[in-house]
Amino acid sequence: MKKLIALLLAAVMTMSLLTACGGNDGAEADETVTDAAGAENEADSADAAGAESEANDADAAGAENAEDAADAESGADAEEAEGGEVSEALADGVLTVGTNAEFPPFEYVDDNGEPDGFDVALIKAIGEKLGVEVVVENMEFDSLVAAIGSKIDVAIAGMTVTDERKESVDFSDAYYDAVQYVIVPDGSDIASAADLAGKAIGVQMGTTGDFIATDDVEGSEVSRYNKGVDAVNDLINGRVDCVIIDKNPALVFESTFEGQVKAIPGEQFEFGVEEYAIAIPRGDAALLSQVNKALEEIKADGTFDELVKQYIEN
Ligand code: ARG
Repeated sequence: MKKLIALLLAAVMTMSLLTACGGNDGAEADETVTDAAGAENEADSADAAGAESEANDADAAGAENAEDAADAESGADAEEAEGGEVSEALADGVLTVGTNAEFPPFEYVDDNGEPDGFDVALIKAIGEKLGVEVVVENMEFDSLVAAIGSKIDVAIAGMTVTDERKESVDFSDAYYDAVQYVIVPDGSDIASAADLAGKAIGVQMGTTGDFIATDDVEGSEVSRYNKGVDAVNDLINGRVDCVIIDKNPALVFESTFEGQVKAIPGEQFEFGVEEYAIAIPRGDAALLSQVNKALEEIKADGTFDELVKQYIEN
């Protein structure tokens, strides 16, 4: 409602402004007139009349401010940022990135104790394009979304775009397709969705694997771990019947624990396709636009494919 009022006010102000100046210059005015029509349809006539009398003596500056406010509230007006607007998040010259380095090959801790992996390399490449230093914070996956915009600027963590997360953050363009896999002990007869019913399932807490095990599997008994590898260890110890986790980490764990576990494609369980994207503070249109532009360049110049080869396909 607040948003509607702001929009309506901006629209009506601009309309009266247009009338005042004879009104036919440019795309921005056209766009606003469309908005005005839309807003008026939605509002009842009493509201519209009220807004108009309030807005009658508004000047150009006032109209523009109200318009900006409406834009900011609507969140993702990336178009406007495309002219090179820089996000305040980058004003300090540092992009602070949260990840959970327990998710090979996308992120893991290397032999020197530093976060590495496809996502880490990708966000560093993005930082380079943006001309900022990238500082990576390794934290629990389940606390990433809440930390965006305060402790960290953005998160890259093999994070699937979900409607629920979109209520708290914005997402960049997707950069990778994924699907959940099921890891079972070697020789297990779990092979289809029906076989999962009533099973003890290990997951990493707060992941889409957790949501599937909890919400979609009937009678499941879900054990939640901070690290995917701990779930796999409990699988090997016989404390859970299977682990639901994303494809690529599942394949890494299958080879790490070769002969002990098997990774079964999620298609066999009718799991849907997921998309990984970078999570960004909600409404930071400038940052969203800058990150998407950098991502596009990295894809166009071959860097992206190189990283896929280096980290995922080898
Ligand atoms: N794709 C899954 C999700 O978004 C799992 C991501 C886990 N990532 C991590 N770095 N631990 O929920």
